[in-house]
This record gives sequence, C-alpha cells and structure tokens, in this order.
Amino acid sequence: MENNLNEQILDKLTKVCLCNAIPRIKIKNAIRNGALTVEEIKKVTGSGSGGCSGKRCTPKIQDLINTYLEKQWE
Ligand code: FES
Repeated sequence: MENNLNEQILDKLTKVCLCNAIPRIKIKNAIRNGALTVEEIKKVTGSGSGGCSGKRCTPKIQDLINTYLEKQWE
C-alpha cells in the first residue's frame, strides 16, 4: 500500500519526456488505455515532439510498455 502510494507520487513527479514535461503517469495511463506502441503513446500524450525529437524519451516509453506487458504493474 505504502509502496503503491510512493509509486503513484513518483509517477506524477517523474518526467518521461523532459522536452514537453510529460509525467510518467500520463504515459502509464495511455498504456492502460490501450496505446501499446511508442508511436501511439507519442500521438496520445504529445511526448516525443520536443527539441530532442524523442531521442531521450523514446527508450523510456518503450521500457514502460515492456514492463507493462510483463505485468509488473497494473
Ligand atoms: S524528451 Fe521527449 S521529445 Fe525530448
């Protein structure tokens, strides 16, 4: 329970896409809503369109998808 709460707080504070200030919670919610490719997530969340053109956030988004598919979080 406490770990879950800490995870939720960190999800709100941690930016996956630094250029566009997109928090991890937004990426996770997109995945939960069925966006299971990096391209879909970029389209839904607006990540990947910043100054680095997704160079920094694309691997992090892919990691979140992979982790979700391995059922490490619901
Ligand atoms: S970190 Fe996402 S576009 Fe640069």
